[in-house]
Amino acid sequence: MVDKNVDLNHASILVTGSSGFIGSNLSKKLMTKFPGCTIVGIDNMNDYYDVRLKDWRVEELTQYPQFTFVKGDIADEALINELFAKYHFDVVVNLAAQAGVRYSIDHPETYMHSNVMGFYTILEACRHSYDENSGWDGVKHLVYASSSSVYGGNTKVPFSTEDQVDTPVSLYAATKKSNELMAHAYSKLYGIPATGLRFFSVYGPAGRPDMALFKFTDLFVEGKTIEVYNYGHCRRDFTYIDDIVEGVTRIMQHSPDENPVGAKYKVYNIGHAHPEELLDFITILEDELVKAGVLPEDYDFAAHTKYLPMQPGDVYENYADSSELVKDFGYDPSTTIRDGIHAFAAWYKTYMGK
Ligand SMILES: NC(=O)c1ccc[n+]([C@@H]2O[C@H](COP(=O)([O-])OP(=O)(O)OC[C@H]3O[C@@H](n4cnc5c(N)ncnc54)[C@H](O)[C@@H]3O)[C@@H](O)[C@H]2O)c1
Repeated sequence: MVDKNVDLNHASILVTGSSGFIGSNLSKKLMTKFPGCTIVGIDNMNDYYDVRLKDWRVEELTQYPQFTFVKGDIADEALINELFAKYHFDVVVNLAAQAGVRYSIDHPETYMHSNVMGFYTILEACRHSYDENSGWDGVKHLVYASSSSVYGGNTKVPFSTEDQVDTPVSLYAATKKSNELMAHAYSKLYGIPATGLRFFSVYGPAGRPDMALFKFTDLFVEGKTIEVYNYGHCRRDFTYIDDIVEGVTRIMQHSPDENPVGAKYKVYNIGHAHPEELLDFITILEDELVKAGVLPEDYDFAAHTKYLPMQPGDVYENYADSSELVKDFGYDPSTTIRDGIHAFAAWYKTYMGK
């Protein structure tokens, strides 16, 4: 296990993408666990998915006195510099990004803007983060979101941070890999301790409507048909949101040691490391949607499910090798897929019914 060298108890923390799925849950967790910390959350509230869900998350967060919400863009250099000068951040968690693989085919510019220019703006602000007059000695740890998509079409499982990730198969993946490279350069050049996190399909209440769990649910509710590739015989690593934010909170408290080239830099996989067969995932979802009263007991799931062959470029199985997280932080993602989907279905029933 590594030592804690970043105190979050009285820290000033910037969370970018705070109205997003992971950002909102992380902010809440930090304020509950470290009531002395203050959080500035920034989000541009874009309409990649239903903005009402982002508004709902902001409403939840602004109930905490230590939370300040700023509606703005992380690529807005003047705004970011103003926030750093005003709040003297100790820790920065960059989660703002254009997510999604398919969307990058028609909207490549959004990925370059948010994921590349946005991250560059955050790095520059970290680089200049000190103030001799006030004694602020700058950002002690930058934690940022990468993605399991950097593994591209790799077929060796589990995916390990030791594996080659030089062959991205989407612009999204390329921007995430770029973030890792940019963070390494800034860490080496300017001494910014930086930890990158490769997330694996995060799910849970108030999750992302473009991801399988929420998307399948919406389609069933609307009486439409879900498409299941390779006839459901593929295995994916689903990680429950509470397990993710617990892991991120632990990681934030340890800025990495210098690597052999003198950069305080580290990348972790953060996944459940326990792949689920898609067919089982769907069966549990159907079951829990009925139990929660989202769908009637006699709902004809078979009539709303279309099984299709494997899509070109798809891999049969992917999951994380999270052993480094276990070794360094005692990471133990314990939520079962049944419990996680149960919580999602209960939230969906309440949220959609309100
Ligand atoms: N959820 C997952 O399974 C998953 C998997 C791999 C990687 N990630 C990464 O984790 C991070 C968080 O993901 P999430 O699931 O919470 O996504 P999300 O889309 O719910 O949250 C991202 C938030 O960032 C905001 N945003 C986007 N561009 C911005 C900009 N230029 N300035 C300010 N705000 C901006 C969006 O409005 C959104 O609220 C992202 O970087 C994503 O790429 C997530």
